[in-house]
Formats: sequence, C-alpha cells, structure tokens
Amino acid sequence: MQPRQQLRHISMYSPGKPIEELQRELGITNVIKMASNENPFGSSPLARQAITDEMENMHLYPEITAPVLANKLAERIGVSANQLILGNGSDEIIRMLTRTYLQDKDEVIMASVTFPRYKTNVIIDGGVPVEVPMKKGGIHDLQAMENAIAKNTKMIIVCNPNNPTGTMVPAHELEAFIKRIPSHILVIIDEAYYEYIRTSDYFQSIKFLDEYENLIILRTFSKIYGLASLRVGYGIVHPVIVSELLKSKEPFNVNRFAQAAAYACLDDDAFKKETQEQNNNGRLYLEDAFQRLGLSYFSTHTNFIMVDTNIPGETINDELLKKGIIIRPGHLMGYPTMIRVTIGTEEENRLFIDALEEILQRHGK
Ligand SMILES: Cc1ncc(COP(=O)(O)O)c(C=O)c1O
Repeated sequence: MQPRQQLRHISMYSPGKPIEELQRELGITNVIKMASNENPFGSSPLARQAITDEMENMHLYPEITAPVLANKLAERIGVSANQLILGNGSDEIIRMLTRTYLQDKDEVIMASVTFPRYKTNVIIDGGVPVEVPMKKGGIHDLQAMENAIAKNTKMIIVCNPNNPTGTMVPAHELEAFIKRIPSHILVIIDEAYYEYIRTSDYFQSIKFLDEYENLIILRTFSKIYGLASLRVGYGIVHPVIVSELLKSKEPFNVNRFAQAAAYACLDDDAFKKETQEQNNNGRLYLEDAFQRLGLSYFSTHTNFIMVDTNIPGETINDELLKKGIIIRPGHLMGYPTMIRVTIGTEEENRLFIDALEEILQRHGK
C-alpha cells in the first residue's frame, strides 16, 4: 500500500521530549522542560476556572467558528471579527493555508532555518519549499527572499520573531519588503511570540492589513497565555481569505475548553505582564551567564534563546537529559554546536546554567 508520493519526503514531527517520557526513562520526577517554548509560569487562573465551568457542556460540540472568542479577540486587537480565523493551534492555520492555496509545484519561500511546520505542510500539499539562507546573526534575508520569487511563487513566510533563532526583522525593512511583493503572493508573518516583543522597532503588521490584502498574520494562545495543550491559535487576514480557509478547516477544530479558556485569559493582563517581566529577567540572567562562560548567542525577542556551546549540541543535549533537563539540540535545526533553550523560571534557569557549566568544564571548555 503506497501513500501519496509527497509523504516520502517527510518524517513525523519531532517535538521537544515530553516530561513524562524522560520521567519514565530515568525513573525520576524532577524533570525540567525547556524545549518547546511553553510558558513556565503555567496559565491564568481565569482560564482554569473557565474550563471548570465549561465541564457541564463537555458532551456538546463547540461552535465551529468560535464567534464569542473571535468577537472579543477582534475588539482587543482592533480588527473586525470577520478578519479572524481560529485554529487548532496556529499549526492548523498553517495547514489550512497550504491546503487552500497551494497547487501542484507552487513555490513557498521561507528562511533556512525556520519553524519546520511550514516546510512539512508545503510538501504534503504538493508545493515546493524554497529555503533561503539567513543573514549572519540568524536574521531573515529579505532581499534574498525577494530575489527568490519565481513564476510559481505562491507564498512567502516570515517568522517574526523567528523560531529557532529568536531574532526579528527591523520594522522598516519588513514594511518596505511587503510593499515590493506582488499582490498575488501571500505574505505570511508568523507572530507566535508577538507578546514577548519589547522593542519599538517591531513591525506592527495589523496596521497594514487594509493596505495589503495578501497579508496574513499568525498568532497563538500557546505561548504567553500558557494554553499550549488546548490548541488554539489564530490568523488575522482579509475577510475574503477567511471565507476560503473556512471551507477547508475541520468543523469543530477549536474545542469548547480551548474557546472558553482563551476567552477568559484575555482578561488577565496581570498574568501576561508578570510573564513578560519574568521572561525578561530570565533572558538577562541567561545572557549574563553565557557571557561569563564565553558563549555567543543570537539576540532573542522571544521566550527562548539559542546559544553556541562550541561542542556538539547533541552531546550537551544527551548530558542535560541525564540530569533531567530537556532542551533542543541545534543539529536538528541546522546549527550543530548550538542548543535552543526556553527561558524558564528563576530556579529552572539556575539549574540549567549550573548543569551546562559543569558539562562544559568536563569537556575542557
Ligand atoms: C513560530 C511558531 N509558529 C507556530 C507555532 C505553533 O504554535 P501552536 O501551538 O499555536 O500551534 C509555534 C510553536 O512552537 C512556533 O514556534
């Protein structure tokens, strides 16, 4: 029995190792996960209460376009509800986009290296990923991406800030870039880490939605809002694009608990602010430690940081795992001596640095 030939070119998604798996392997309980850019401070109590309240409706399908959540979200971000498409994580919006817009051999331009689900979905839906090397410092090379435009180009994806490098493109560069892209090409800006941005030099994409109907913005409740397991993300787009995407989406894609929790956590500014502050403190702590250890790192605008350990990232990964600390080795992302670590709680960051220091010393670094 042969699957579609596109599937021969891909393998199953390889996530950060789950805590439960390492606990089983090591027979220990104190495992720290700093691998998948989740929120180490959990989620808002308002979200938990909303889920409890929603329990009594567990037997009922949810509304298929999450209209109550969409209305509140639209009001908060200053768009109309008909510009929003809700997904089972922003992962699903990426899938809806490739499924809806790609025809055989259509090309999709993206950075090398960036979030892997772009490439996978493009391949599954019969398109061709065109990967453009980044500039020094792990920043998107927008000029090279523009130069890569060909007859069959259908989409360009800019992950801003980028996963795994954490870097962002200066606002004026991205604005000028979008202006130059022909209107038949969809420009997708993935802003999964939007809420962690702390610079005024960030491209405020929403302001440009009216001007550029081909602009697509992706955001998620998985990161700062701490709802990763519930799977709820969204796209902010022109209403015409929403109506096309709705045709291919799974009917009940955002479950009741996800809709209720996302709706509730929008009211918890204190939780969001606290996470932003703690994340910034954690970033400064890690950057200081890396400097003290003589390690270089990419400048991050997210809740993770990529650091060069000068020895194979796989070795560091294996040794950290033995100590119960899960990170992401860079060889999976094209940076063999780097690791990507999610900024954790104060204690997690300290334990990680202590462990890293010990491993580096043992390797004569
Ligand atoms: C850049 C980027 N886009 C999208 C996603 C997917 O997020 P979600 O949980 O909303 O599917 C992630 C998750 O790590 C990400 O890093």
